[in-house]
Amino acid sequence: MNAMTAENLRSAFGGESQAHMRYRIWGSKAGNEGFPTVERLFMATSDAEEVHATLHFNALKDQAGDFSVTSMAGFGLGSTSENLQGAIDGEMFEVEQMYPAYIAVAEMQGEKAAISAMRFAIEAEKVHAELFTKAKEAVDKGEDLKADTVLLCPVCGFITLTGVEANCPICNAKKELFVEY
Ligand SMILES: [Fe+2]
Ligand SMILES: [Fe+2]
Repeated sequence: MNAMTAENLRSAFGGESQAHMRYRIWGSKAGNEGFPTVERLFMATSDAEEVHATLHFNALKDQAGDFSVTSMAGFGLGSTSENLQGAIDGEMFEVEQMYPAYIAVAEMQGEKAAISAMRFAIEAEKVHAELFTKAKEAVDKGEDLKADTVLLCPVCGFITLTGVEANCPICNAKKELFVEY
């Protein structure tokens, strides 16, 4: 793998790994504040970020060794409304800046495994940003998020609050594989 794509994938692995932890912490806070469905959304999204970190790690499978990894990492344990804003900002950074730039480099370098891992991630992050925005609108009215279900595609990290008719709209995985929170 070309050095620059490998470095970008390691950085994305770092960012996704930290988002995984951050969402668990923010999810517990949402539960403590009396927003159980927001907690479920945070926990499902935490696991989606684990899916992305795993995709990136697997794409880097021939890159063994120790590296310093630099990635954007949000901090701060605020109110659930503030935490949701932090989550929206992080997702939008990935959607608008990080993944488009990394995918462009990977395309220039013909790195197929990296491109497919990061395409799944960017498409799922768009959905995460929408759902966190919906959650913040509810919390800002003093209400919990309304959802029929919270379902995660464990292949690409797609999340739905209404279920799917057929296969995953991002990765085409069968809906029977989806995990409910
Ligand atoms: Fe995300
Ligand atoms: Fe999927």
